[in-house]
Amino acid sequence: MSATLHYFAEYEAQAQALAEALDVRAAAVSVHAFPDGESLVRVTPASGTALLVRSLDNPNTKLLEVVLAGAALHANGADRVVLVAPYLGYMRQDKAFNPGEAISQGVIGRIIDEFFDALVTVDPHLHRTPELQSVVPKIMAVTVSAADTIAAAIRPTVSRDTLLVGPDAESLPWVAQVAAPLGLEFIVGEKVRRADRKVTIAFPQAPCARGRPVMLVDDLISSGGTLIACADLLRRAGAISIAAVASHCLAGAADLAALRSAGIDPVLATDTVPGPSASISMAFPLAEALHSNGLA
Ligand code: R5P
Repeated sequence: MSATLHYFAEYEAQAQALAEALDVRAAAVSVHAFPDGESLVRVTPASGTALLVRSLDNPNTKLLEVVLAGAALHANGADRVVLVAPYLGYMRQDKAFNPGEAISQGVIGRIIDEFFDALVTVDPHLHRTPELQSVVPKIMAVTVSAADTIAAAIRPTVSRDTLLVGPDAESLPWVAQVAAPLGLEFIVGEKVRRADRKVTIAFPQAPCARGRPVMLVDDLISSGGTLIACADLLRRAGAISIAAVASHCLAGAADLAALRSAGIDPVLATDTVPGPSASISMAFPLAEALHSNGLA
C-alpha cells in the first residue's frame, strides 16, 4: 500500500527526516487559529496509508488538532491513518491516585483507538500498564525503543570507566538496555516523588561512583528535578563528571539552565521532542519499525 506522511509545522525537521528514511512524500498539515482559540485543520488529499506525524508533548491543543487531522485524512482518501507520535503524552496517569481523578491514559487511549488505525511511539511512559497495546486495544500498537540509538550516540563520549545511573527501579530497563551494547556498569536509585518538582532519591551503591564519570539515563526529563537530585548525590559520592541522556526531554529553557547549573553537562536526548537537547535522530528506528510492521 502506498504511503504519504503528514506533519505539523513544529515537527517539520524530524518529519522530513522520517519521510526521507521511508522514501515517501511529506506534506504539511495547515492549522489556522481563529481569534476565539479554535483550530481549523486542513490536510492535503491522501491515498493508501497516511502517516500522521506529531509528538504529543504539551498535548492539550496538539491532541485535538491531531484528531481533527486524522478524521480529515480519512475523509480525504486515506485507507488507513497511522498516528506516529514519537512522544506520547498523558501516559503516566494510569490510575486514580486520589478520589475523583481522571485516568488520563485510558481516556486518551480510547480517543486514539477511535480515530486512528495504528499507533507508533517511542518509549512510552508506562508504569503499571505492561504494554502499549492495552492502552489502544482496538488498533495496532508499535513501541520503538530508543535504547540502541542512544547507546550508539553516546558511545564516542563514554569511557570503559563510565558509570550509567538510573534514578529509580522504573528506569532499570532503559539503563540496562543502553548499558548492554556498551558493556558498561550501571546502578539504579530509589526515588520517592514528593511533589511535581520535589523528589527524594537514595543510591545505596553510590560509593561506586567515586572517581568516575557518570552518565544519568532516564526515559523522560520533565522538570529536571529528578536528575538534579541524582547529580547532587553522585557528586557528593565522588563522581568526577555528570552527563545525562534521555529518550524524551520536555524541559524548557529555565529547567535546562537549572540542569546545567547543577553541573549536568551535556544533557542529551532523542529528537522525539524538539528542543536544544534533541540531538539524537529517531528517523531510522521509526522508519524500520513502520516498515517491519507493514505500516509504510
Ligand atoms: C519517572 O517515572 C520518569 O522516569 C522520570 O524520572 C520523571 O518523569 C522525570 O521528571 P522530572 O524531570 O520532573 O523530575
